[in-house]
Amino acid sequence: MCGIIGYVGPRVAREVVVAGLRRMEYRGYDSAGVAVIDDGKIELRKKAGKIGNLEAELQRDPLSDTEIGIGHTRWATHGGPTDENAHPHISANGKVAVIHNGIIENFAALREELETVGVPFQSGTDTEVVAQLLGREVEAGADLAAAMRTICKLLEGAFTLVAIDVTQPDRLVAARRDSPLVVGVGTDENFVASDVAAFIEFTRSAIELGQDQVVDVNRELITITDFAGNPATGKHYQVTWDLSAAEKAGYDWFMRKEIFEQPRAVADTLLGRHGEDGALKLDALHIPESHLRTVDKIIVVACGTAYYAGLVAKYAIEHWTRIAVEVEIASEFRYRDPIITGRTLVVTISQSGETADTLMAIRHAREQGARIVAICNTNGSTIPRESDAVIYTHAGPEIGVASTKGFITQVTACYLLGLYLAQIRNTMFGDEIAQVMNSLTAAPPLIQKVLDTLEPIKDLARTLLGKPSFLFLGRHVGFPIALEGALKLKEIAYVHAEGFAAGELKHGPIALVDEGVPVFVIVPPRSREQLHSKVVSNIQEVRARGAVTVVLAEDGDDEVVPYADFLFRLPKVPTILQPLVSVVPLQYFACELATLLGYDVDQPRNLAKSVTVE
Ligand code: AGP
Ligand code: GLU
Repeated sequence: MCGIIGYVGPRVAREVVVAGLRRMEYRGYDSAGVAVIDDGKIELRKKAGKIGNLEAELQRDPLSDTEIGIGHTRWATHGGPTDENAHPHISANGKVAVIHNGIIENFAALREELETVGVPFQSGTDTEVVAQLLGREVEAGADLAAAMRTICKLLEGAFTLVAIDVTQPDRLVAARRDSPLVVGVGTDENFVASDVAAFIEFTRSAIELGQDQVVDVNRELITITDFAGNPATGKHYQVTWDLSAAEKAGYDWFMRKEIFEQPRAVADTLLGRHGEDGALKLDALHIPESHLRTVDKIIVVACGTAYYAGLVAKYAIEHWTRIAVEVEIASEFRYRDPIITGRTLVVTISQSGETADTLMAIRHAREQGARIVAICNTNGSTIPRESDAVIYTHAGPEIGVASTKGFITQVTACYLLGLYLAQIRNTMFGDEIAQVMNSLTAAPPLIQKVLDTLEPIKDLARTLLGKPSFLFLGRHVGFPIALEGALKLKEIAYVHAEGFAAGELKHGPIALVDEGVPVFVIVPPRSREQLHSKVVSNIQEVRARGAVTVVLAEDGDDEVVPYADFLFRLPKVPTILQPLVSVVPLQYFACELATLLGYDVDQPRNLAKSVTVE
């Protein structure tokens, strides 16, 4: 977790590096730093806090104009977010500077060894051992890339490393294991970074590195090897989006912009999924249909919001395919010794494609013989690369830490997968599938309709400002939406929020309801009569105990009117598709409340966008 960038080329390196850090700040933002090489010396500036602090420091004490530079925006794992612990770290002999994303798990033993022979340490990070080890190798005469290969073999854990050497001010050397690294290929200039957003302003041509590879980069050449020094290749690709996608376009927050991008994101995710015969086609699903027909269990593994998308998927996939679906939090999955056979299909959902818990879960599933389908938003990221098949969501870059368009497109992609399985396993007739596809295709304008009616949610946020606790209730597919609504509030507005299955209310949570407690209720469509009437009763139950009820119910549902303190109308859609419209006002409410509270919506405290440590 964190953003790293290295640049070599004719531009002023510190400017390119700081601009890159700005675009990656969402990845980690508790401290930041830059190093350049000038006149045989490393110049370094680093500061605790957001990048603004580093920029102020650079104003006060500018770095030289150089052709090489590295920068880091940190999400601390070892050692507090202080100036000293910020990256880059420099070896005690002043030879090399290093930035790191990940965790060096055996750092304590390595540090002890180095300290025993008198190497002085300056920080409390795990990273500094890398700087010291590299410094020692280079001092002994090793070439920087050879030194990097040598030391990588000593390291345990996950890492992306980028190093520079004072004696070679025209060269960056980077390495990766289990953390992300892409090379940006320019003309007479090159970049290395955690994320293409860092260099998209300059080039859209990128190379994705594989596991356990080292890349040696100067202005003209990019040389990739494995840790043993054998030549290796990365995967070339063109980034399909441009700088404007990574900018706020007049919105106050990326999150708000991303909420409003949802109709397009869903439409793009649905695009091109039909064959000429009208049948559903998932081209990139490189698992033979014959194998998919033998699948007897699906396990969805994911974290956070992506896990909630998986919970929605369970209702749809089980209903359409009659295959049992388990949904599991990725960090719990491999530690409980799950029952996996060759007939198990594991579906993994990840916006970033980098989440360490999810990655480890799919590695475990593969070892047990399962096939893996990834649903992912980030082209070329690790999780799809390590899966048998991928369905890409086409949300475009999601920068707000709180996932919005990521979620809605994950749900959409899960629906596509469910319908596809139903098609090849004949559990639905072709016309039934076409009918659901028609409703799905009709969803983007309906999501737009919700977006067009969000104004009253602003007043609602003002009314409920200062409430210490919020409850969310839903049933069936509304249940995961209740969980997601609560997560959004926790993440960005730092208030206590809980989502419950409405039917569970009477088994405990109703004790939380007291005078003035806001309770959001997602009401199922009236066509689901039994469910609907039970949820309407739940609204009455909480209201009778003093709750302020915020009711999300479909157009024309008059039954809820007497019990709603605040009523938000949802467009009419089939039950299973209701999450696509019901999640939107909840996202917007969280965004509004956090804004009113004066918080940084895009960079909430203690969080980072992709969690690349377990
Ligand atoms: C969502 O708002 C959260 N920031 C978080 O729960 C996120 O969904 C989770 O960390 C999974 O991330 P991924 O989709 O990139 O794997
Ligand atoms: N583990 C390193 C640290 O705590 C790197 C963290 C990161 O990836 O930002 O400094």
